[in-house]
Amino acid sequence: MLVRGGSIVTPEGVFRADVKVVDGRIAALGEDLSAAGVDEVLDASGLLVFPGLVDEHVHMREPGLEYKDDFTHGTMAAALGGVTTVIEQPNTLPPVDEPQKLVSKAALLKDKAYVDFALYGVLHDTNTHLMEDLLGVGAVGFKVFLGPTTGNIPPPSEGSLYEILSKSSRLGVTIAFHAEDHQLVSYFTNLVKSSGRLDPQAHEDARPPIAEELAVMKLILMSRRTGGRVHILHMSSREGVELLKEALWEGVNVTGETCPHYLTFSSDDYPKYGTLIKVNPPIRSNPHREALLKAVNEGVISALGSDHAPHAREEKMRSVWDAAAGFPNVQTFFPVILDMALRGLIKLTAIPKLASENPAKYFGLWPRKGSVRVGSDGDLVIVDPNGKTLVSEEWLQYKHKVTPYLGWELRGEIKYVVLRGHVIVRNGRLVTAEPKGVWIKRSSS
Ligand code: NCD
Ligand code: ZN
Ligand code: ZN
Repeated sequence: MLVRGGSIVTPEGVFRADVKVVDGRIAALGEDLSAAGVDEVLDASGLLVFPGLVDEHVHMREPGLEYKDDFTHGTMAAALGGVTTVIEQPNTLPPVDEPQKLVSKAALLKDKAYVDFALYGVLHDTNTHLMEDLLGVGAVGFKVFLGPTTGNIPPPSEGSLYEILSKSSRLGVTIAFHAEDHQLVSYFTNLVKSSGRLDPQAHEDARPPIAEELAVMKLILMSRRTGGRVHILHMSSREGVELLKEALWEGVNVTGETCPHYLTFSSDDYPKYGTLIKVNPPIRSNPHREALLKAVNEGVISALGSDHAPHAREEKMRSVWDAAAGFPNVQTFFPVILDMALRGLIKLTAIPKLASENPAKYFGLWPRKGSVRVGSDGDLVIVDPNGKTLVSEEWLQYKHKVTPYLGWELRGEIKYVVLRGHVIVRNGRLVTAEPKGVWIKRSSS
């Protein structure tokens, strides 16, 4: 196929070039490429061409939690939102903590994938000896939960954590962390609960910044001593970001992710949205939001992930203490970032690095995924910057459309999504009859 006349958005700048995809891979980039032998030509004049997004942080819920959502709906949503690769979290049922479970999960998901996918394994106290075997069957990275969240996977002891990061250094594999300190979260949760508070903002005070700060501090120290590759997910606080910035200056092997909702919402929004925006770690006050935005713009935070975390409607519509944490994000992930860029809050050219290239690099998928360059997979999102996106019930593919973004009108409109040379979305509609996604395993490099 040939994408003709578009402007390619890359970390280095925006360039006018045609893109030719042959047998699923980008075969040529340049001006006025010939259409000889091409099956399909997409006219991208006046449009922006981004690399397909690599969402490093999705919880699609299959197997075991399909009442919340499933892989079919989740990857259809991803496709419509311009995400062409998802890296699926391991807190499903059973949790992915043994090679056989990873293999079964991949076998289950493989025929349901509307976009390409890769899998995390989870590490806890009793499976650190399985790291090599999990990598051997195709895990692209590992997840460790330091604090309590959906799935209640217990944190490893300090000894296991040291071992995990020592092995990470040897094996060159990224360990992604839910970085909130378990004991501090318990302490503050008990404190705030016993005060009798029932307002939605109580969740923020039950998991204060110091819980993130302590976890981040511990991870930086462990990485400094072991060389282990630490990636801190869903960073939510100014304090966490300050520690990350110092560690980066020092050359510690650590990176950070945040999610669009920490850049979009603040604690001022609890009265309006209530438990719809309950998430771990919590959405905090405006100074935190501003510090995170600054960190993204300075490159201190180098990755964005959606933390797509769907739940059933009734699980979200409970009291502050009983409501589930997290909300679906994969479909609005790119549209929300694009809108921010078109409003001047982040640079347009920062998007490919934050949401495609760096996530692909951190999890061993680059250069196959994450860049518009010759030899990479032909994964593209083609956007009209002058169009609009209405987040409507009809557009959203989730089983439960319980999202604070419902009804939002965003700047920019996805015209086409291309997965390895197949047009899977055209004018905001999924046009592929059957799922075309494949399982991407860790490559030895
Ligand atoms: C996530 C989920 O529901 O799986 N929830 C959340 O609040 N972010 C788990 C997680 O990422 O912590
Ligand atoms: Zn988490
Ligand atoms: Zn998550």
